[in-house]
Amino acid sequence: MSRYQSYVYIEDLGKHVDEEVTLNGWLYNKRGKGKLQFLILRDGTGICQCVVFKGNVSEEKFAEAKSLTQESSFSAMGKVVASEKAPGGYELDVTDLKIYQISDEYPITPKEHGDSFLIEHRHLWLRSSRQHAIMRVRAAVQKAIRDFFDNNGFKLMDSPLLTPNACEGTSTLFETKYFDLGNAYLSQSGQLYAEASAMALGRVYTFGPAFRAERSKTRKHLTEFWMVEPEMAFFDLEDDMQLAEDLTVYIVKYCLEHCKPELETLERDITKLEKVQGNFPRLSYTEAVEWLAENKIPLMVKDENGQDKEVHPFPWGEDFGTVQEEAIMEQFDQPCFIYDYPTEVKAFYMKRNPENQKVVRAMDMLGPEKAGELIGGSQREDDFDLLEERIKAHDLPMEDFKWYLDLRKYGSVPHSGFGMGLERTVKWITGAKHIRETIPMPRMIHRIIP
Ligand code: 4AD
Ligand code: MG
Repeated sequence: MSRYQSYVYIEDLGKHVDEEVTLNGWLYNKRGKGKLQFLILRDGTGICQCVVFKGNVSEEKFAEAKSLTQESSFSAMGKVVASEKAPGGYELDVTDLKIYQISDEYPITPKEHGDSFLIEHRHLWLRSSRQHAIMRVRAAVQKAIRDFFDNNGFKLMDSPLLTPNACEGTSTLFETKYFDLGNAYLSQSGQLYAEASAMALGRVYTFGPAFRAERSKTRKHLTEFWMVEPEMAFFDLEDDMQLAEDLTVYIVKYCLEHCKPELETLERDITKLEKVQGNFPRLSYTEAVEWLAENKIPLMVKDENGQDKEVHPFPWGEDFGTVQEEAIMEQFDQPCFIYDYPTEVKAFYMKRNPENQKVVRAMDMLGPEKAGELIGGSQREDDFDLLEERIKAHDLPMEDFKWYLDLRKYGSVPHSGFGMGLERTVKWITGAKHIRETIPMPRMIHRIIP
């Protein structure tokens, strides 16, 4: 029984067998014949068949039951009956009903709807069984992430979302006026502040929204997404990859343990997830490029007429795209790390490999089953002069990075961190077709409503 009101949630029905209870919710579906009405009620925690028998309720209540339309809001009072046939294992033998509102004709019906129709009705689409299941997995992934870090000595240190400077390149910044101080930008990543926090608390994580004015119109890009970013003093790149692997294994195990019904609703092949056990393969960028050459996977470019053109063999120094990532991942059924990327394609703050200045100590973790990049991270440049040189090389305003350089002036230490995209991870675990299904209200280039 809820502490606040005298009703129970469908997920708790097992504790109330043979008791009189009240369920509150919305009509998911309805069947009826003669003296019986079967009202399928959903309350956010599950669905329950409420059986209204004409002999058990007043004439008026029976008529009310018949009048309920899809998504009408109501309460049903009655006895909880264990029933093997019923979805969820219990039914309600109804003795009374209370209607809150008879719903207008509901736009989303069991028939197929187009993608754009559904996304326009996102505020209602969230109630559909698949979307509902994905949202519950999302909440579980978030909890798994928090538990993992909280239980491993990390402190949650939130980074600001309004920032004076770029973190991940200047081409994807959202700009906003900031009083008399000129322009501010929506944060692309909490990392730079997490570094300051790590120097104060040792091991920290930030977990919040990140913004990218991405022109990429793909199934994997949002303009507003959530990212968890751990940052650790005295960690090198090897430690960083190990932590990313441990986190990933923990999340997958947690979901397999706590989200079985949701994964079933989503028809997710969980044998694929069960293979995620640790010991992820690791390839250097250079090894990956050699593999691409051997397997004749080209670089795709546009020629002067805008036509796709293949470049063979894949040239060292170019960043990987979907084609290369998916080809490499065909070989693996666990996530894979690619590390030591060309300096030119990566961010200014990454530490160059002391043995080979052409590469930085960066890593990406790619997911199997075409999941794409789930994690991006690196060891950070901890030398004042080398970092200053990189800020200049990237044409970034030195004034804005003075505080960041301070971290290399007052007790600099080797340190590393990474960012895991929440929605990409949820997309992989749920098998959702598009990233827009993995966040309650997706923000994309052409969508800001609802
Ligand atoms: O690789 P990214 O850009 O790394 C960073 O932002 C680092 N500062 C993180 C760090 O080291 N603390 O982004 C990290 C992850 C990606 O691997 C991806 O999962 C996700 O964030 N991501 C996006 N997810 C959805 N839509 C987008 N536009 C995304 N851009 C990145
Ligand atoms: Mg990245």
